[in-house]
Amino acid sequence: MVNKKIAALHMNNISLRRIWGVVIACFFIISSYAQSSVIPQPNSLQLRDGYFTFTPTTAFLATDMQSFQDAITARDMFLFCRTGLAMKTLKKPLPYTPYIEIRNDSAQAIAGAYSIDILPEKIIVTGYGTGGAFYGLMTLMQMIENPFSGVYRIPCGHVEDQPRFDYRGMHLDCSRHFFEVDFVKKYIDYLALYKMNTFHWHLTDDQGWRIEIKKYPKLTTMGAWRAGTMTGHYRDQTYDTIPYGGYYTQEQIKEVVQYAAMRHITIIPEIEMPGHCLAALAAYPEFGCKDTTYSTAMGWGVFPDIFCPKEETFTFLENILDEVMALFPGAYIHIGGDEVEKTAWKESAFCQQLIKEKQLGDENGLQSYFIKRISAYVNSKGKHIIGWDEILDGGIAPDATIMSWRGEEGGIAAAKAEHHAIMTPGDFCYFDHYQGDPLFEPLAIGGYIPLEKVYFYDPIPLALKADAAQYILGAQANMWTEYITTPEQVEYMLFPRLMALSEVDWSKKENKNYDDFLRRVQVHMRMLDKMGTNYAKTIFRPAYSILPTTDHTGVLLQITAGVNAKDVLWFMSGTGSKEYKYSEPILIRDDENIKMQDPATGTYVTADIHFNKATGKQISLQPDPSKKYTADGPFTLVNGISATTKPNWSSKQWLGFSGTDCEMIIDLGKTDTVHSVTIGYLEDKLSWIWRPAAFSVELSNDGTSYATAGEAQIPPDDPASLRNTTIHFAPTATQFVRIHIQYFGKIPAGNPGAEKPAWLFLDEIMVE
Ligand code: ACM
Repeated sequence: MVNKKIAALHMNNISLRRIWGVVIACFFIISSYAQSSVIPQPNSLQLRDGYFTFTPTTAFLATDMQSFQDAITARDMFLFCRTGLAMKTLKKPLPYTPYIEIRNDSAQAIAGAYSIDILPEKIIVTGYGTGGAFYGLMTLMQMIENPFSGVYRIPCGHVEDQPRFDYRGMHLDCSRHFFEVDFVKKYIDYLALYKMNTFHWHLTDDQGWRIEIKKYPKLTTMGAWRAGTMTGHYRDQTYDTIPYGGYYTQEQIKEVVQYAAMRHITIIPEIEMPGHCLAALAAYPEFGCKDTTYSTAMGWGVFPDIFCPKEETFTFLENILDEVMALFPGAYIHIGGDEVEKTAWKESAFCQQLIKEKQLGDENGLQSYFIKRISAYVNSKGKHIIGWDEILDGGIAPDATIMSWRGEEGGIAAAKAEHHAIMTPGDFCYFDHYQGDPLFEPLAIGGYIPLEKVYFYDPIPLALKADAAQYILGAQANMWTEYITTPEQVEYMLFPRLMALSEVDWSKKENKNYDDFLRRVQVHMRMLDKMGTNYAKTIFRPAYSILPTTDHTGVLLQITAGVNAKDVLWFMSGTGSKEYKYSEPILIRDDENIKMQDPATGTYVTADIHFNKATGKQISLQPDPSKKYTADGPFTLVNGISATTKPNWSSKQWLGFSGTDCEMIIDLGKTDTVHSVTIGYLEDKLSWIWRPAAFSVELSNDGTSYATAGEAQIPPDDPASLRNTTIHFAPTATQFVRIHIQYFGKIPAGNPGAEKPAWLFLDEIMVE
């Protein structure tokens, strides 16, 4: 944190200089530099009067081997970030200043820790453990000011810093879509810039095997290729017929490992087993459970084709792991273990015999046996496995580290059992999820994880006491690429959320401040502009809520967010193109299409409001919706805005109920004649959301005695009733409308979530 007193002094000084600056240069925007804009927020950053100013001879001074390496890498990073500085490195002090001395003082061995002293004549960056000096140089780079053309300087001061967590991870799926070595290196540069220290490289899956294995060449000659790729969203089930593939040679892998190591990033390769292995089975069908051939998957999802736990299969996998372990010097190998659909094992006489023979109980026991064997093999080579949290099922392998993705529960269970865990829960850390309203975002798998949600994630769950909490190594975000096809789109999904993740993993909780973070993010966006990085501008998009008016005639549109919310301009379709600067909630009494735009980025959102007799009226609802899907509360159902389903639904607009009917009463405010009620709902069976089974409408004039006006069954497989259903009845004078909606019931067998209660998702209720 900036020491307030020193920062205040610094500010006064700047005010004087600003006047001088105006005299000598028209372009002098020093005020924005009065605070530092380092991300992740350092533990302590104190600025003092004065500057270290770069001259043409300013160089790094590095007198030990590690410092020399850090200097070389820092030079590359300075160029990567378009600082305009091409730094030379000296191995011996020369008689000129100023210079930047890099020291690695490993005596204290605090991983990642560093300090920086910035004086007018020199800067000393000292690393106190692995990566420390390099991180100091990344901080220093982010402190460089460039107030006049060709002038580079850093305010004098002192920085003390060390990471909150030892594991700071970012993942990239190179199976669903393949990314060339050059982009993988760029991705690693991005991670290094934000002090991440682990790159989880997802190298094998159903849709492509991406790592050369010399002993099994077909893994890449066949398994790296598929005949086509799913287009659009999964629910559309459409494919192209363009052959797609690619893989990394062992030479390329070594090059990337070395490149990452220079940036103090360890690579954890993931070799998926016993599921998500269709590409391997396409090449070597003999290691599956069925006497058949397989094809590399063209679409997404979970496939029933998995490795069969035969001795030959273990030999095959151990041989693969031998080559993998020789390429990746890190301590961990990720062996997947997630989403194993075990029907093939259920139907295999061999597997059933093995379960009996080894007294494994069932297929979960067999999965546990499988993982334990692989784990023991990896241990015998001096390394450790990481697996997704499903490897807890049936008993965890001794020594295994859990990657908790289906929520935090896996990580909590692992930590309580004294196993290390890495937190990567789907609701906070899946960067393939939308970061804004799907209407305005490129197609993604689903979900909704805006920047703020990532920022406020705490890897230590409340449920863990300190003794168990020490087993949480840190957090990681995952970049699954089913819907991410190009490097530019990876960047879009990565930025700015990577910056938030870096503060989750690095910064002390008490030093985090979202408003200040947003200020710093905008400084970094200017750097990303220079770098040509395709970051998302979603945070600038205005967000709005629709509120009731006190007399329940009309609705109020309130702009609630967007980084420049106070500057938003709005336009109303009905009143020509006149634009207004937003100052207070906008009263709307008729159908309107309102566009709200951030003037700085042009990012906008529209609200399409349609009135019916229920719009803006008082509504009560029983029971409360699920905490996860409350949108703007019950009023959401009568706010005039119909929730969207295309291109994807977003939890912002739907009220969700898990396994329960619901009932609402709408008070029309006075007696009115009505003849129909329409309910809007969602069906997304993949997400366990089913249309309601039935609903009924009752009418009342006094709010006490109700008479039934109509009932409707909603057939489960009628496409015509996918979105909404209407009950018509004879025109009736009424004030109160009571609607009972019956949820679907248990999810039928053969569907995702079978036997579990279905979710009910509702949006607009329309009374005519
Ligand atoms: C996962 O997302 N299947 C780990």
